[in-house]
Amino acid sequence: MNKKATLVTTPSENQEIVHVNLSKRSYDIAITSGQQDSLVSLLPGWLEKSRFGFHGTGKIILVTDDNVRPLFAEKMESSLKQAGWQTKLHSLTPGEKSKSLDSISKMYDELVNLKADRQTVVIAIGGGVIGDAAGFLASSYTRGLPFVQMPTSLLAQVDSSVGGKVGINHAQGKNLIGAFYQPVGVFIDTDVIQTLPDRDFHSGLAEVVKYGVILDQEFFDYLETNTEGILKREAEVLRHIIARSCQLKADVVEKDEEERTGLRAVLNYGHTFAHAYEALCGYGELMHGEAVSIGMVDASRLAEKRGLIDSESTQRQIDLLTKLNLPVSLPEGSNLDTGKILDRMLLDKKVVGGKLRFVLPDRIGHVEVFTDIDVEDVKSVLERDSV
Ligand SMILES: NC(=O)c1ccc[n+]([C@@H]2O[C@H](COP(=O)([O-])OP(=O)(O)OC[C@H]3O[C@@H](n4cnc5c(N)ncnc54)[C@H](O)[C@@H]3O)[C@@H](O)[C@H]2O)c1
Ligand SMILES: [Zn+2]
Repeated sequence: MNKKATLVTTPSENQEIVHVNLSKRSYDIAITSGQQDSLVSLLPGWLEKSRFGFHGTGKIILVTDDNVRPLFAEKMESSLKQAGWQTKLHSLTPGEKSKSLDSISKMYDELVNLKADRQTVVIAIGGGVIGDAAGFLASSYTRGLPFVQMPTSLLAQVDSSVGGKVGINHAQGKNLIGAFYQPVGVFIDTDVIQTLPDRDFHSGLAEVVKYGVILDQEFFDYLETNTEGILKREAEVLRHIIARSCQLKADVVEKDEEERTGLRAVLNYGHTFAHAYEALCGYGELMHGEAVSIGMVDASRLAEKRGLIDSESTQRQIDLLTKLNLPVSLPEGSNLDTGKILDRMLLDKKVVGGKLRFVLPDRIGHVEVFTDIDVEDVKSVLERDSV
């Protein structure tokens, strides 16, 4: 296990680098504002110092979706071409359905036509769907191609692009087919967030708040005092919250890269409730971040019942989430039955040995994992929430 801490440096005023330490699979996350072209200059260095260790320009397949393609991907393709790369742009239909074997199969065909070799780079430009699918493509074609992420949704920037989980869905379940596969670099420019629809933006903020609650009280304080700058999507504030979120997630991933020791479980704060709500409300009704927001409040109330935390700490979370335009209770009319929610929680793939597992805070900035929670306590939290 690598014990080095993840560093954040600020080499220039508008750039932060989070270094993810995973021995041979180490890589940088570069966070800039208004400098999208700098990916072109960063790329050769990332490839050279990566486990692929080569220099010079070769072939690139850019994977994007039809929303992001005209916004950022076409421009990136022409910049890369100018720098001497041979490029191919492959665009998927926006949405979860593109995380499928069918889209992967079409992209394999594209790589065969391109006569891709082990130095052909896969670049994902888009939200979590694109990162997960393109990452799976990179992990599996000729047993691994160099992979670069340019996440364009807030959720992808602070969550899905960090940690190396790539994959696609099966008809029987989300993310059932996949791998742990680290990129050679992640490039984030805060300007791309300006075009993100409000609901997606706010939903991404739930994961940002989560990092504060589970790992960093100072960061939680920062979020409380900067809600205005966050909602206005100010570049400097975005750079800070994205860099800190990536660093906090990377710290956890460094200690438990392949989810073997249980340490990575802390990232699931609010998620035991959220997964049940998402499934029962019908996917798409509640966005993931909205379900996580409600789930965090419920988990905090559960922690209160167990005497771990005071009601003031729950209230601070409610106030912050509300200011960030996130829901803190189930939508009116959702009519979710407590029994059904409990049954659904027991179906969650993260349930171990039939016991519900909850990540609960004992203060803002620290959580523990519990597997011995009294079902009656869960019921009484749910009853309070049901309408
Ligand atoms: N790998 C992981 O560790 C991990 C973690 C969390 C979530 N995920 C996955 O991430 C996916 C969800 O990610 P998502 O919310 O980014 O979904 P998404 O990729 O579907 O993007 C959401 C929508 O925003 C659009 N979009 C993206 N960037 C935009 C921009 N800058 N401007 C305008 N529109 C833009 C997309 O076209 C899409 O319509 C799920 O499949 C989930 O399983 C993976
Ligand atoms: Zn989540």
